Amino acid sequence: MSKIRVGLIFGGRSGEHEVSVLSANSVMSAINRDKYEVYPIGITKEGKWLPGVVPEKLIASGELQVRQLNDGQDHSIVPISNEQGQLLSSLQEQVDIFFPVMHGPYGEDGTIQGLLEIAGFPYVGGGVLASAVGMDKVVMKAVFQQAGLPVGAYLGYLRKEWESNPDLVLDQIEQQLGFPCFVKPANLGSSVGISKAHNREELVRSLNLAAEYDRKLIIEKMLIGREIECAVLGNDDPQASVVGEIVPCAEFYDYEAKYVLNDSKLIIPAELPEHLVKEVQQLAVKAFKAVDASGLGRVDFFVNTETNEVIINEINTMPGFTRISMYPKLWEASGINYEDLIDRLIQLGLERYRDKQRNRVC
Ligand SMILES: Nc1ncnc2c1ncn2[C@@H]1O[C@H](COP(=O)(O)OP(=O)(O)O)[C@@H](O)[C@H]1O
Ligand SMILES: [Mg+2]
Repeated sequence: MSKIRVGLIFGGRSGEHEVSVLSANSVMSAINRDKYEVYPIGITKEGKWLPGVVPEKLIASGELQVRQLNDGQDHSIVPISNEQGQLLSSLQEQVDIFFPVMHGPYGEDGTIQGLLEIAGFPYVGGGVLASAVGMDKVVMKAVFQQAGLPVGAYLGYLRKEWESNPDLVLDQIEQQLGFPCFVKPANLGSSVGISKAHNREELVRSLNLAAEYDRKLIIEKMLIGREIECAVLGNDDPQASVVGEIVPCAEFYDYEAKYVLNDSKLIIPAELPEHLVKEVQQLAVKAFKAVDASGLGRVDFFVNTETNEVIINEINTMPGFTRISMYPKLWEASGINYEDLIDRLIQLGLERYRDKQRNRVC
């Protein structure tokens, strides 16, 4: 049987570029080479496509502690082209399915998925809609609420509204949410641009900071609870993994705590009463379906073990995917190892593509 050719797209124009490179590096090293042939395509931070570049070549600084995991072969197959369209059509003969291992804007937000849809390729993970909804925290929360999922109090503003009427915005936030509150750019990830405001003065700073990153802002009431995460895998009949807990080493799980300090803890499985585990798993699957996700999704919660309150924070449609990231670790603890997980995700991508092919063309 001939091997399935997987186009592994990584890097990209996102604050999570480095994380994506690490995730891709892990996938490269673990993918079953008897079954799959990997064709890596790196995208630089400037958005230049570099087919044939293996992940570690894009790791620019020595600050990232990356184990060199590739098989050492030269993967150059097609000539470098900056024209995405041209590149995609040249790949038509060489790639059976794409695996965009990219996080954040231009990777996890439906844009690359749209490009692949237009080019007619199967790909791993959520489609355009799920990716876009999962990326925009304001829309995501509205969809969750509509689906009956428990969401914390929040307010959403356009940057323009904040800039043209700051006093009104500050008053509304103060009255409706109080302090401390969390201020975030609506469309980002990895905690970039997120800060906690304890008073009106800090709130001004936080709103200005978030407004540097996005034209849309979300402000959330501070939630009290443990940070519990659940991995979901599947297409139309998704399954939930065991649940895990993040114990941040900082005041909250900010960028430093996630990637720099290296001291946050992942506890798998989380030590939670069984009824709360069940509730989290059910809500995770419901959230996955609410945004019409496919393939994979990690759903994050705040669980208050004193009041038994479970609040959903977000879904990540392309969660961190290194071998030691929460998503693969949760599946490992649920009986699916990293190699098999990659295999399952590729098969789910192909399955979803075949299902879509059934649609009548009009
Ligand atoms: N409403 C909130 N209450 C308490 N902590 C929060 C709240 N929102 C975010 N946080 C903290 O900030 C972190 C990052 O926020 P999150 O919404 O998950 O953004 P990202 O999409 O960047 O991961 C969370 O993991 C948590 O530690
Ligand atoms: Mg998060």
